[in-house]
Formats: sequence, C-alpha cells, structure tokens
Amino acid sequence: MFRSAPAHSAQQQQLDEAATLRILNAFAVDLIAIPSVEDLFWYVAQNVVGQLRFVDCVIYQANHDQTELTQVAALGDKNPYGRNIINPLKIPFGQGITGQVAQSREAVIVDDLLKDQNYIPDTHPARSEICVPLVSGGRVVGVIDSEHPSPGAFGEAELEVLTTVAAMASAKIELLAEAERSKQRYQDLVKSHAQLSEETNNRKALEAKLFEARKLEAIGRLTGWFAHDFNNLLTVISGNLELLEGDITQPLSLSCLNDARTAAGRGAKLIRDMLAFSQRTRLEPQICDLNALVNATCERSKDILTQPVELRLTQDPWMVHVDPKVAENALVNLVLNAQEAMPDGGRLEISTENVRHGFSDNQALATRLTPGRYVCLSVRDEGEGIPEERLQQIFDPFYTSRAVGAGTGLGLSMVFGFMQQSGGAVEVQSKVGVGSTFRLYFPAATSNENDLLTKNP
Ligand SMILES: Nc1ncnc2c1ncn2[C@@H]1O[C@H](COP(=O)(O)OP(=O)(O)OP(=O)(O)O)[C@@H](O)[C@H]1O
Ligand SMILES: [Mg+2]
Repeated sequence: MFRSAPAHSAQQQQLDEAATLRILNAFAVDLIAIPSVEDLFWYVAQNVVGQLRFVDCVIYQANHDQTELTQVAALGDKNPYGRNIINPLKIPFGQGITGQVAQSREAVIVDDLLKDQNYIPDTHPARSEICVPLVSGGRVVGVIDSEHPSPGAFGEAELEVLTTVAAMASAKIELLAEAERSKQRYQDLVKSHAQLSEETNNRKALEAKLFEARKLEAIGRLTGWFAHDFNNLLTVISGNLELLEGDITQPLSLSCLNDARTAAGRGAKLIRDMLAFSQRTRLEPQICDLNALVNATCERSKDILTQPVELRLTQDPWMVHVDPKVAENALVNLVLNAQEAMPDGGRLEISTENVRHGFSDNQALATRLTPGRYVCLSVRDEGEGIPEERLQQIFDPFYTSRAVGAGTGLGLSMVFGFMQQSGGAVEVQSKVGVGSTFRLYFPAATSNENDLLTKNP
C-alpha cells in the first residue's frame, strides 16, 4: 500500500485509508496484551512491514542516559530470522538521521538520501527514509525508522501512519513502565511488611525477655531480704545446737539433736541457694581453669553420679575469674537435673569451649552479655526435654516439676543468679523427646591475669 503505486484514484485512496484505519485499530487492540517493551518493539517492526506494507522497519532503543541509540528490533534486510538483527548498529544522539530525530524529537522524511550528508548506510544503500521518535514519560525511548530503495517514497500519509503507530507504542511503553513501577512498589511494600513483622516479633521477644528479667529481679530482692533474715535465725539455731552437744549424753537426745542439725544444714543449703539466686552471695572469685574445676567436681560427686559422664574439654581453655566453690555447686545442680531428666539412663556430656561473643550472638541468651571472650561450660543430656512454655519458668525460684518434697526448685535459680553475679549468663536449648543443653558463659580473665598464670589467651 505504501510506496511503489503511483497516482491513486480518489476511491482507491479512500479504500486505502479505510484499510489503514482497520490495521491501526487491530494494532491498538493487540497492544493491550503485549507484556514487555522487547515484545512491543518486535511487534511494531513486524507490523509496520507486514500490515502497513513499508519496505523495511528498524526500531532503535535509546539508552538510559539519552546519549545513544541501539538497533533492537527489525523486519527487512537487518532481520534474517526470528528475533535476530545482523550487526545491531549503535548511533550516538545527534548523529545520522536517526540520531538527529532522537535529539530533536521531530519526525523526519528524507526524499533523496544521496543528497543527505547525514545518511549512514547500513546493509544496502537506500534512497529515501522516514524516521519518527518514540517519546514516553517526557523521555526519548527510541525511534522507528524505515528506508526505501526509491527516492521520494514517503509522504504525508506515511508520516501520519507512522506517527500514530509511534504514539500508540509510546503510550504502551508508559503503561508498561507504570506496571513495572507498581510491581516494584508492591514488592517494596511486601518487603517492608515482612521487615515490620520481623521487627515487631523481635520487639515482642525482647519485651518478653525484659519482663522476665524484671520479674526475676523483683523476686530476687524479696528472696534476698527473706534469706538474709532467715539466715540470722538459722545461725542462732545452729549455734545453740552446738552448745547443747557437749551437755547431752542420752542416746535418744543425741539422735534428736542430730536430726535438728541435719535439718539446720538443709536449711543452710536452702538459704545459700536463695542468696545465690538473689545475687547476694559473698563471692570469692579466683583465677580458675574450668577444665580442672570440671574434673574435680566429677571426682567429688562420684557418690551422687548414677551414670557415667562424658567429658569433652577444650585443650587450652582461657582462664576465668570465678568463685570455684559456687561454680562447682552450679555445675552439680545442672548435672543432677540432667540425671533426673534421664531416669532410664542416657548420654550426659560436660564440655568446655572458648568462645568470642559478639552483639548479634545475644539473641539466644536470656540476659545480654557484653561482647568479649568467654569460656562456655555446657551440660548436655538426652532426657525428656523441656516444653517451650515451661522454658520461661524453669529459672523462677521454687519452680519445680518434681513431686512434693523431691525438689525445692532452687537449683536453676541459683545457677541463674550466680552467673549474673559473675558477669556471665546461662542459656538453655531444649527439645522435647531429644534432650537439653544448659550453657554457662564465664567471662574470660584478662590477658594480664592469664599471663600471670603463663596460660595462652
Ligand atoms: N535437664 C533438664 N531436663 C528437663 N527438665 C529440666 C532440666 N533441668 C531442669 N529442668 C526442669 O526445671 C525445673 C527446675 O529445675 P531446678 O533445678 O531449678 O529445680 P529442681 O531440680 O526441681 O529442684 P532442686 O534443684 O532445687 O532440687 C525442674 O523441676 C525440671 O522441671
Ligand atoms: Mg535441680
């Protein structure tokens, strides 16, 4: 329809116009379903030639900086098969006919390319050319270009049709860009929502930990006050029992006295644990080797150990600054709990490990640790495990799941308070049916303290 036919009759011209309108209408409908800019460019190139009967068509796309055009779609000599372009030219803005159209944003018809110095021949030299810009969202996104082997092949009609095609394509490009922006906004929104949920969850977890810490602090104050007064009473009772001991000779009275002393002794242990929990123990820290402490504790606890203990001790532990007697008491409490969790036996392991603790490692800990070097003493069992909802309670004083009289519920409270008072922390990981691991983090002694003991830090 375009070019090659000479003068048209008025009726022929009307028919041509009607056909062109139908093609453009179909074009507009097809555009709706085109999913990407790449598909759009190939569709335009194919239909400008296939439907509108131009001899060839090349689409150039502008780069983001608006400095260069690249051939991205074509139908004609440049396009041998499929979506391929032979030697895709790059043309700077301002150069050649296409470059000038991109820069000026004005459509151009060149009637005789032999007389145009701007003409850049591509595959075969042509004689006439038409080029229209693609402008979308205020930016030049490319140009549509068509050449013809005869001079003067393009006129007003071709210009009008190609400008209409360019306008429709530009509008579609704008729509695709908006769809992409909406998709991006949606993805950003989904991402922010996920971040917000995560932050809210972290915050809730932190608040729960803070609440726990405050609760323990409050109970600790009360316990400390009570233990202190009770200790005074116990001192009076024990003192008087000792005084009586010399005067009693009757076996029955002696037996009563012994019962009273045993009860006072148990009361004293109770008080010690309560004071430890409320962090009011008078600690006597020393530089200690935790491996030695573990070995000594196992040796001394032979009577109460009902099953073998596996030791996995680090070769060269850092020294720690801790009260060894209270640390031993804490370890015994953990070992007894582990044994009690495995009434039918199972693997009980004690290990030591040097660890460097960073800010991000605080998540799993009940209380925060200052970043630094620690020696971690772990007691692991393969017992019944602790359900998630009970994990919050096990460090509470007097919390016990044992039968009445079988446990005071002060073992873990003592461990918790002692670790806090020693500048460390206790962590628990447990899975029902799999077992539990309690980890005690003891702050490593300073390098100077270690040097004094000729240990490597
Ligand atoms: N290793 C463990 N496996 C399973 N549950 C445990 C373990 N350690 C502690 N628990 C749970 O935590 C509770 C509290 O322990 P804690 O040592 O404070 O008190 P207790 O052992 O009950 O009594 P006490 O130690 O004063 O004699 C236990 O009763 C038990 O339910
Ligand atoms: Mg216990």
